[in-house]
Amino acid sequence: MKRVLVVGGGGREHAIIRALLRSPQRPELLAAPGNAGIARDRIPCLDVGPEDVDGIVRAAADEQVDLVVVGPEAPLVGGVADALSDAGIAAFGPTAAAARIEGSKTYAKELMREVGVPTASYMVLRSGKEAEAQLPCASYPAVLKADVLAAGKGVIICENEAAARAAVETFFGERRFGETEVVLEEFLEGEELSLLALCDGERAVPMAPAQDYKRIFDGDEGPNTGGMGSYSPVPGIDREHARALALVAHQPVIDELRRRGTPYHGVLYAGLMMTANGPRVLEYNCRFGDPETQAILPRLRSDLLDLLERSTRPGGLEGVTIEWSPEWAVTIVLASRGYPESSSRGDLIRGLRSIDSIHTELLHAGTAERDGELVTAGGRVLNVTGIGATPGAARESAYAAADQIAFEGKQLRRDIAARAVERT
Ligand code: AMP
Ligand code: GLY
Repeated sequence: MKRVLVVGGGGREHAIIRALLRSPQRPELLAAPGNAGIARDRIPCLDVGPEDVDGIVRAAADEQVDLVVVGPEAPLVGGVADALSDAGIAAFGPTAAAARIEGSKTYAKELMREVGVPTASYMVLRSGKEAEAQLPCASYPAVLKADVLAAGKGVIICENEAAARAAVETFFGERRFGETEVVLEEFLEGEELSLLALCDGERAVPMAPAQDYKRIFDGDEGPNTGGMGSYSPVPGIDREHARALALVAHQPVIDELRRRGTPYHGVLYAGLMMTANGPRVLEYNCRFGDPETQAILPRLRSDLLDLLERSTRPGGLEGVTIEWSPEWAVTIVLASRGYPESSSRGDLIRGLRSIDSIHTELLHAGTAERDGELVTAGGRVLNVTGIGATPGAARESAYAAADQIAFEGKQLRRDIAARAVERT
């Protein structure tokens, strides 16, 4: 029997574990560090943090696992896939060299420019002085981005030059994101689309498209979060369209990284803006999206374990088509009070038992056990994914479950997938 270690402890990793539990190969699963919901699924959770690269390698060796599936970006950028491969352990996820595509925005932009992937025009600002000189010539709105991993929070959209000056002050004066270069980029308008593709070093095979909701409040108001909801598929993006987008957004990068001797294995996530002038890549992530994965994987009909293993082998995905359920999935994130600025913890969670487990999948993100009861553990607490024959049905199931769950200060958006319902 195969043994698989999943690294991470959020809703994304819980969704990966649920999909692996559906694999006909019936793998034995482990998580590091996992969470209370993963433990409730009777998956052993190891006391190893997701950023502890040495600890992950040691745990994988001790537990004699056949495959390590890495959820979050930080260990990938930190070289966990390289360290595992040095220890002779298969890892799903790119090497540090390939993961730079998420770790450095300037690297990603240069790569896109080199291979002709359509993206917003940009320039790199290396100091406050350089910014001073450039801001008067920029057109507004403009976008300023710190060149570090900042979980989406390092991006500031500036309506005018005064706002851009204030943003520059947070980057270069206050140094809110530490020592970093800043990307100044053209503001793009359109609808966003998350297109994830499995990559075997040679080819990119797109998964079902998804859309996520980054702002905390309804109508895309308020600060950016890690993500407040998602749905899949996306009206108007059929399999052919997704394939065409992957040829534009993913394949040129895969070809170039292979040519450079740093082939990309794992999942490559392209955040796209569908503008009036065609698709533009806003960013790449070197991992599954959170919360997109919670809406994508429940619809997967192929064996996830087989797909992940194939991705680790050069050319392993040749001839593979990924099968999807025709159903829709809508994921609602339930966040704790104060999120995203702060987050409360230790509040009792009620109502989980009465949830309809046929039409919804309940995933844990920030929960903990306390004296046999489930309590919040900060940030995004729970995710509920509703499944249905139409976006409307999926959405209704998701909100019915979300409304049954109660904890002090619960926050959720009420408009997740409303657009998808309107359009179908
Ligand atoms: P990023 O981390 O680069 O994906 O940026 C986070 C979010 O900021 C994106 O999901 C968009 O909503 C927004 N954003 C980033 N770049 C642009 C851009 N050039 N034009 C408009 N919005 C952007
Ligand atoms: N949902 C956005 C992300 O995973 O980065």
